[in-house]
Amino acid sequence: MELELIASGKVREVYAVRDDPTKLLMVATDRISAYDRVFAEPVIDKGRLLSAISAAAFTALGDRFQTHFVDVPIDVPAQFLGRATLVKRAAMIPVECVARGYLVGSAWDAYRTDGTVQGVALPTGLGFGDRLKEPIFTPTTKEETGHDRPLTPLELRDLHGIELAQRLEELTKAIYVALATWFSEHGLTLVDSKFEFGWVDGDLVLADEIATPDSSRIVRGEPGASPEWLDKQLLRDWLSEHGFRGDGQAPVLNGELIESVQGAYRQVYETLSGRSFDDWPGGHDAYRGVDRVQS
Ligand SMILES: Nc1ncnc2c1ncn2[C@@H]1O[C@H](COP(=O)(O)OP(=O)(O)OP(=O)(O)O)[C@@H](O)[C@H]1O
Ligand SMILES: [Mg+2]
Repeated sequence: MELELIASGKVREVYAVRDDPTKLLMVATDRISAYDRVFAEPVIDKGRLLSAISAAAFTALGDRFQTHFVDVPIDVPAQFLGRATLVKRAAMIPVECVARGYLVGSAWDAYRTDGTVQGVALPTGLGFGDRLKEPIFTPTTKEETGHDRPLTPLELRDLHGIELAQRLEELTKAIYVALATWFSEHGLTLVDSKFEFGWVDGDLVLADEIATPDSSRIVRGEPGASPEWLDKQLLRDWLSEHGFRGDGQAPVLNGELIESVQGAYRQVYETLSGRSFDDWPGGHDAYRGVDRVQS
């Protein structure tokens, strides 16, 4: 497979496949990011775990939705083994389509302020970690630089038109429900999740990674008032305990934190797939990827 690096994101690197311009190879590194900052310390196995979880999720969705997923090929350079996903190349829509089934995180903060979340009114009397009757759609912009901006339904319509806005909302909610059902069959809760969509040959398809602990909040059982996160929230909480909320010098990630992140991601994969991660292709060498290039 002849590859050409075309973009490097915070966690993943995107390669064009020379003999097939309709495909891309997305390589998940062991980088970890929070508050739009990429940390120097790698989380060994994270890239392969993300690829394994996302592949399992695309497989679980089956043919219920149109997606970009092709497979996790094994005819790739050794350092990419188990961390590279072959996908259909899409013209991406720059919206982070978030679905939430529970009241946590920034949704809880917003609800506490005025009872609404990004223009969606919720019933009164809800508490932190409560399950919402229906999942809500809380999209944000996907910014090239700087922080993503929350969008109300009206703002999304103004940016992308009423028809696309409606389709993104419906698809996001339906995919969230399908994945959340799959999670609950395995004793896990998909608390909230972020999706990205793109156009492939005129079709609107689900792209990017899905249902991973980088793109979602995940717990065993129900979240409740003090959830034990199995996702990147572990890093955000650790950073905030160390006095870091996105500005200034970030603390150095220690071994204990890195192991807890690794362990959580591994639990998610093994619980959902019923398989041991030891049987997933590739080795345990840290892979921080190539130098970041402009996308
Ligand atoms: N099928 C696809 N075709 C084209 N691009 C895709 C496809 N699926 C995902 N992408 C893009 O690949 C990139 C994956 O990299 P990653 O998630 O690490 O980046 P990011 O941190 O989310 O954002 P940025 O690229 O702005 O740094 C994202 O920009 C995502 O939108
Ligand atoms: Mg991303």
